[in-house]
Amino acid sequence: MSLWRKKSITKLLADADSSEHGLKKTLSAPSLVALGIGAIIGAGLFVRTAGAAGGFAGNAVTLSFIIAAIGCLFAGLCYAEFASMIPIAGSAYTYAYTTMGELIAWIIGWALVLEYALGAATVSIAWSEYLNNLLGGSIPYQWCHSPFESITLANHETVHGLINLPALFILLVLSLLLIKGTQESATVNAIIVFVKVGIVLLFIGVGWHFMNPANHTPYLIPADKPDLDLPNGSTYHYSDSWQHGWLGVLRGAAVVFFAFIGFDAVSTAAQETKNPKRDMPIGILGSLAICTVLYILFSHVLTGVAPYTDFMKAGKEASISYAIQTYMHDFGWLATLISVAILAGFSSVILVMLLGQSRVFYSMSNDGLLPKAFSDLHPKFRTPYKSNLILFLFVGLFAAFIPGSVAGDLTSIGTLLAFVLVCIGIIILRKSDPDRPRPFRAPLVPLFPILGILVCGAMIFSLGMSTLLTAFGWMVLGLFIYFLYSRTHSKLHTSHLDELPPPKENI
Ligand code: ALA
Repeated sequence: MSLWRKKSITKLLADADSSEHGLKKTLSAPSLVALGIGAIIGAGLFVRTAGAAGGFAGNAVTLSFIIAAIGCLFAGLCYAEFASMIPIAGSAYTYAYTTMGELIAWIIGWALVLEYALGAATVSIAWSEYLNNLLGGSIPYQWCHSPFESITLANHETVHGLINLPALFILLVLSLLLIKGTQESATVNAIIVFVKVGIVLLFIGVGWHFMNPANHTPYLIPADKPDLDLPNGSTYHYSDSWQHGWLGVLRGAAVVFFAFIGFDAVSTAAQETKNPKRDMPIGILGSLAICTVLYILFSHVLTGVAPYTDFMKAGKEASISYAIQTYMHDFGWLATLISVAILAGFSSVILVMLLGQSRVFYSMSNDGLLPKAFSDLHPKFRTPYKSNLILFLFVGLFAAFIPGSVAGDLTSIGTLLAFVLVCIGIIILRKSDPDRPRPFRAPLVPLFPILGILVCGAMIFSLGMSTLLTAFGWMVLGLFIYFLYSRTHSKLHTSHLDELPPPKENI
């Protein structure tokens, strides 16, 4: 029994073709681009841009976006090659199973839980914050914060959080929508994407006239930038090495990388795509390109309207509303409109994250690495409803009881790890299976994948030691589960490599 046993691509494709009663094929290229944008534009842009600018990159947060986009582009090209060649639900996990063997596939699947499940939890927590913001802070603090958070009131009384109910609420609604069906979810997603992109364009268009050129000078944070006194009484030192200059830009890239997470989620829907060979590359690269342009313009306008140091002191989370209300007089209505659009935008991100996670679980369960419940389809809706419900409980636990900041960086690290492994996978597959038809070929292999590994690796290491250690702990837990359960339940363990696995009753 080998840890490196692989699934055969030919059999994988044959299995997918023969599963007439499997996932419905309803998605086309425009829906995929919308799916990508739906997953991409969210808390990363509307929350983390200001944090990255204020704390690390300054005005050069635009360069941070470019670095993060370059890492995503290299990985995205590899994703597109894989997704057009192996249009099977499961994304990076499935690709690794065919190229690097079962153990690495498991490791990627486990890392993807960080990306999708914790990503959904992080954004649902941001959703809760924005809702409370929009309602003028009328939700009692303890009902919209985790027990690890507290606030000190003017009368010096300290209030602790109990549970984040709005985050749980939005997760429940979207889980039920996903159970109803992918097509319905895609339609709702398309409407939200329209509103979201519209609002980003509106902010860029209106904000452009309120930019103060003085705010953009100097472009990088200088090493001798004076310390900043923060409202909580502490002092922020820009002189620290990761908090100014080019290292600050790199650290900023790791922070805003979160804003790009999701374009790879397009590949998890490959099995539900009408013409995956053509539509997958369009979906992945198209959504990435559109978002990159929007992000650069958006962050340029944001730091032009408000000096970046403002975002250390005020409006870190509601940064857009803050910038409008403070510097764009007479546009208060735009702040409200943007908050509503942001709520809708966050919902579509959560939707795609939950969709991606349930499809990864679906594939892992089909392979026997996870229990069968994760691949049972609903008799009428033909969606993996049990998986969606289990996922709601799992993600809900994080959303209800863990602060958003803890989950955010873990999401990025899990995603970056998956990106690195996908880049390695493409290099391996070009050598091990050079003749297989590749409807889309990533250019300049192995140079581009190697650059992808380097850029994503640099971002992983700039995320900080505590995030690295927590992610390491998560991966160790995953290995325990693999050796205690998945290794012996794997279909490759119970069937011979050259036999098709026994057909599932419900697929
Ligand atoms: N890219 C997604 C966001 O920004 C995860 O919220």
